[in-house]
Amino acid sequence: MKVIITGAKGQLGSDLMQLLQADSRYEVYGYGKEELDITDMEQVGKVFMDVNPDIVIHAAAYTKVDAAESEPDAAYGVNALGTRNIALAAEKLKSKLVYVSTDYVFDGKATSPIHEFEQPCPDSVYGKSKLAGEQFVRDFHSKFFIVRTSWVYGKHGQNFVKTMLKLAKEQQQLKVVSDQTGSPTYSLDLASIIVNLALTEKYGTYHISNSGSCSWYEFAKAIFEEADIDVIVEPCRTEDFPRPAPRPKYSVFDHMRLRLNGFPEIRNWREALKDFLTTL
Ligand SMILES: NC(=O)c1ccc[n+]([C@@H]2O[C@H](COP(=O)([O-])OP(=O)(O)OC[C@H]3O[C@@H](n4cnc5c(N)ncnc54)[C@H](OP(=O)(O)O)[C@@H]3O)[C@@H](O)[C@H]2O)c1
Repeated sequence: MKVIITGAKGQLGSDLMQLLQADSRYEVYGYGKEELDITDMEQVGKVFMDVNPDIVIHAAAYTKVDAAESEPDAAYGVNALGTRNIALAAEKLKSKLVYVSTDYVFDGKATSPIHEFEQPCPDSVYGKSKLAGEQFVRDFHSKFFIVRTSWVYGKHGQNFVKTMLKLAKEQQQLKVVSDQTGSPTYSLDLASIIVNLALTEKYGTYHISNSGSCSWYEFAKAIFEEADIDVIVEPCRTEDFPRPAPRPKYSVFDHMRLRLNGFPEIRNWREALKDFLTTL
């Protein structure tokens, strides 16, 4: 089975590559931005035509949430139009398509876990551009999975877990936001569910994160407990760290579509974190 991965050098893309390359059932074609710029429609068409993939996993994105507020053209260019290019090229070859999206398509005003039948309503440019990408997938592709995920961390690239471990080496005391709640997601868990999903024909939109929820403050405390690091963590409010892009206050996912389609529940975030820290 031939699989194309876009954004193959990113955090999730790297784990997808690792997972698929270890399985002899797959012939994997992973492309970083240098080999395949998704904003180049002609290049996307040519690369896809040469490979003729069975599955496309589209993990490339403009992910600079704060910079997107002042660079909307760059964010929409990659996340919306780039995704249109991928959707058109994949549809032409009748490949299945997985588009990785985000909890930022919601405004964070929910008070209970958000399922896939609820209406998105993004606040930030990043969230709006990712939602525009989802719409292009729905408009131009017929065999797609839209996988919304949240609070991703893993071995590759920068993420909250690595930032906390680094800060703990430099400071005795840390302040971490306690009024934003979400679901952390270990990128290897996410990668493996994406691959399992793509082997089915159960198309549609899915919310995928590790199960359970916590605030960033609780997440930080858990990281230090699991890594056995002695550092004082104090809770603070979002207003204490003003950022250009609004952050969702609440983005806990309900995995309703996985449940309704007979997939097992994803393991708890704390268990996944422990596993990650052990391998790290
Ligand atoms: N990280 C999270 O917490 C999180 C949460 C929810 C959803 N997501 C979604 O999950 C997916 C994977 O995220 P990630 O954490 O792996 O992000 P990442 O590490 O930033 O990876 C994204 C990759 O896309 C590449 N890229 C950017 N512009 C491109 C272009 N024009 N053509 C081709 N490649 C391009 C980036 O390359 P450069 O670095 O060279 O620009 C980067 O390697 C994204 O769709 C993201 O929106 C992530």
